[in-house]
Amino acid sequence: MDELKTVHFNHPVLSGELIVPGDKSISHRAIMLGSIAKGKTEVTGFLDGEDCLRTIEMFKQLGVSIERQGKNVWIDSPGLQDWKTPTDELYAGNSGTTTRLMAGILAGAHVTSVMTGDASLSNRPMDRVTVPLREMGASISSETASELLPLRIKGTSLQAIDYQNPVGSAQVKSAILFAGLQADGTTSVREKTTSRDHTEQMFKHFGADIESVDGKVSVTGGRALTGRNVHVPGDISSAAFFMVAASMIEGSAITLLNVGLNPTRTGVLDVLKEMGASIEITNETDENGERLGTVNISHQQLKPVEISGALIPRLIDELPIIALLATQADGTTVIKDAAELRVKETDRIAAVTEALSAVGANIEATDDGMIIHGPTPLTGGTMDSYGDHRLGMMAAIASLVASGPVTIKDPACIDISYPAFFEDLERLVRHETNN
Ligand code: S3P
Repeated sequence: MDELKTVHFNHPVLSGELIVPGDKSISHRAIMLGSIAKGKTEVTGFLDGEDCLRTIEMFKQLGVSIERQGKNVWIDSPGLQDWKTPTDELYAGNSGTTTRLMAGILAGAHVTSVMTGDASLSNRPMDRVTVPLREMGASISSETASELLPLRIKGTSLQAIDYQNPVGSAQVKSAILFAGLQADGTTSVREKTTSRDHTEQMFKHFGADIESVDGKVSVTGGRALTGRNVHVPGDISSAAFFMVAASMIEGSAITLLNVGLNPTRTGVLDVLKEMGASIEITNETDENGERLGTVNISHQQLKPVEISGALIPRLIDELPIIALLATQADGTTVIKDAAELRVKETDRIAAVTEALSAVGANIEATDDGMIIHGPTPLTGGTMDSYGDHRLGMMAAIASLVASGPVTIKDPACIDISYPAFFEDLERLVRHETNN
């Protein structure tokens, strides 16, 4: 029987300041580069969500010394060439980023390993990485005919490739670039639409031989990397839940500190602005190649919008919460070119449509997106997270504008990317700060 959590706020108004937890994508990459590089790396602002903890566990099994206290992580690595073969399977839990990026890393390491995952991850496509990695000479076999987990990877020498990435996916691009670090020659990945570039930024920070020109990223293998310190900015994908809440609820005005503002991730800000939201960005700085700053956002009645094309990879993880926002906008919002949503932690087109319909939203699923008619008053009801953290948080934010209580099925999955989510939400409703 799934766990249930009922959430109900009486006419909530959000205000206060919040320090947003660390970025999931950057936290994974900080641990990965710190473990590949020889020597010491210190990571601050690390996201202690379950997915990133899985990445840490894998490297410990490979013989890397990693200590963590909350958001601070200390890595001391012998370097990828001197990792040891793990005695047990490497378990990735729910984390697609861990699995796909590790496939690229393990392909060129001197170890043999088997990667497994939970039921959701075991149904997600891995051929998008195994196919190009085999072109590089990788020895990867799936224990299923359809190239799903478990994957058995026997590290071997790799050759560079020039790859046209058919899916707009940073995980695919990154898997190939990580393999390229060990490959003979210069590996290139071309993308039709630019996906998040945290791997490229982190490679530069650790001194890898990498360049990006006109949509083509190239890394030349063989350069030895040494440990560096990394500060992880806050996750705009986590901040997005509160941005949407403040935009929807009359009288709300919040300040989100430490928000990652890498331009490959800020599609949600562009959409909110186009919808007429009141947003002000202050205190912008750069740290290890990543932009961050403060986002001030307050309520405004919003217009509908069309979201498609090159914008999609820049807000792919925010589409569930944007769909909720669209239920409160004045008119019809169309989301298209987002078929990738069907192969996320769950089929997010079907799951978002079902969860929002269950509380009275007027929303239709299409093959590659959703059509949402607003404004619609939401009722209470039961919303299934389908074990997907972003669906669980979407349901909690829906409860803020629903007329009755919302019961969330399987809310524990929220720990995957935002363990303190409910505390932070309650703080903003009580007009407090975690600063
Ligand atoms: C991620 C890339 C995206 C995103 C995921 C994290 C990453 O996945 O949805 O949450 O860290 O590289 P895709 O590469 O499948 O689009």
